[in-house]
Amino acid sequence: MNQAKYFMMASLGIAFLLMSVVFTNCAGPKNEAVQQPPSSDLPEEHQEIAPAQICLNELMVVYARTWFDVLKTSCIGCHKSGHGSANLSVSIFGFLSLDEQRIRNNAISNHHGNHFEATENLQTINAFTDDWTIGREKYEDCISQ
Ligand code: HEC
Repeated sequence: MNQAKYFMMASLGIAFLLMSVVFTNCAGPKNEAVQQPPSSDLPEEHQEIAPAQICLNELMVVYARTWFDVLKTSCIGCHKSGHGSANLSVSIFGFLSLDEQRIRNNAISNHHGNHFEATENLQTINAFTDDWTIGREKYEDCISQ
């Protein structure tokens, strides 16, 4: 019985020693890798992602009550995978990837895309322009911080 106990203790001791060696070996390179980008930089990186999403979320609220419906109605026929999409996220990403003035010009033109809402669109867009402009300025400020 005593001998068996002694054996168990000895095996545990050896196992412990082996584990210490393994841990020491693993800890070495890991610590070096962490030192390259100082760990104090990590929270900062995380902070950059979150506000950008908050900025976009806020702009999306304004976009949903301004451009979204007009572009969905008039442009979906040919730009459904961009600013004419019936999906709010697809629509705003399409919108932001283009020049706003070109979108406006085409939305109030009878000559682009053969659509007949040009006069109505002009009135609608004029009515929400202030709302949108303020929203977009806030967004630009927000993402530049
Ligand atoms: C009948 C099809 C059709 C409709 C409807 C249509 N477009 Fe277009 N649009 C085109 C085509 C084709 C092009 C690419 C050739 C060009 O630039 O004219 C284009 C290009 C554009 C561009 C330039 C894209 C770039 O790369 O700079 C803008 C901006 C644009 N459309 C806005 C609109 C808006 C806003 C509406 C809705 C009010 C609309 N279009 C409706 C066919 C259409």
